[in-house]
Amino acid sequence: MQFFHPLMHDNFTKADMSAAIKLFKQKRKILTQSKYVKEFEKKWSKWLGVKYSVFVNSGSSANLLTMTVLKLLYGKGEIILPALTWASDITSVIQNDLKPIFVDINPRNLCMSETEIIKKVNKNTLAVFMTHVQGFNGLTSKLVTFLKKKKVLLIEDVSESHGATFNKKKLGTFGKISNFSFYYAHHMSTIEGGMVCTNDKKICEIIKILRSHGMARESNSSAFEKKMIKKYPKLSPKFIFLYPSYNFRNNEVGGVIGLSQLRSLNKNNKKRKENFKFFLKMLDQSKYKTDFQIEGSCNYAFPIILKTKNFKSRNYFEKTLSKNKIEFRRGSAGGGNQLRQPYLQKFAKNVSLNNFKEVEHVHFFGYYIGNYPQLSKEKIKKICNILNHIQI
Ligand SMILES: Cc1ncc(COP(=O)(O)O)c(C=O)c1O
Repeated sequence: MQFFHPLMHDNFTKADMSAAIKLFKQKRKILTQSKYVKEFEKKWSKWLGVKYSVFVNSGSSANLLTMTVLKLLYGKGEIILPALTWASDITSVIQNDLKPIFVDINPRNLCMSETEIIKKVNKNTLAVFMTHVQGFNGLTSKLVTFLKKKKVLLIEDVSESHGATFNKKKLGTFGKISNFSFYYAHHMSTIEGGMVCTNDKKICEIIKILRSHGMARESNSSAFEKKMIKKYPKLSPKFIFLYPSYNFRNNEVGGVIGLSQLRSLNKNNKKRKENFKFFLKMLDQSKYKTDFQIEGSCNYAFPIILKTKNFKSRNYFEKTLSKNKIEFRRGSAGGGNQLRQPYLQKFAKNVSLNNFKEVEHVHFFGYYIGNYPQLSKEKIKKICNILNHIQI
């Protein structure tokens, strides 16, 4: 269907196309992971403000590698997670035999509630895996100080919030490890892709090994490689598989597109921030939530949280959006309350949905629509006019 307002619009530019064509036209071309992947990792680290970044084939792979490295380094433990997130944030925990502990969200930023997290931290807590939902910042000074004091790791999923900040510093620089996705729908795209970022050299080395079959030679550290060759003299030096692992590599096409997209990211994000403020100003506060905590936020989507709890009104709202060719998703990030999803039933059976009132509201009455850089103020006005006239 041709949408009047799609979730994302034209985010693969002429410049990206030229960069890819230039790569394909090279005489001695290498298309598998090589120098452009490295260059993208270096430039991304510089843009973000971290020492190391590892480019992978998706944000979900970034999640899985992050939880795998935690498991390898720290063993068992509980991971505190929001019930409103993407499925792979949770599956990465379960697949590594770590224990997911769910908390409700703060309705003003859709991220985990600070109070709820603090209540759940105990001696078994290994990490808090914060999803910065839809461009909002989920961190607070109280939370960051508390986690440091308790020696609980902070892990950030910034897949939906590239460029958003807390205390004027980019999200993704506070956690021990942070993850990004470059899937089509996000602030920037490498078609498919993700990034694992950290300031910890050892973690970076292990992530690089895990990204590529668990092979010692992938660590990017000749000292470590030599040590492993010495330790395993009966193995072929180039084929020392240290961990049961994956192939999560990206490739040079992703590398050059990433480099090209990164050049416009700040400019695009500036436009997104302006659009978001304008959207909130135009929206009818009596029907929709507008009291979001927007300081530092950088939203690739407009959240539309209905104030009503009436299903008939909600269905009428959806019908009107469809009729006006406005593409939308219900449930915000990942379709709403993950505790309702079939894949989680084994883990959710002792959890009462009554403790997740805010996520439940977003699950049934929360939506998002696109906020892409080309969106004009005129079009935002038209969209808000449609939304504000819906009888709910
Ligand atoms: C918060 C979050 N984390 C992880 C992912 C997974 O990213 P990918 O689609 O690149 O696997 C998504 C997907 O959109 C997401 O929203």
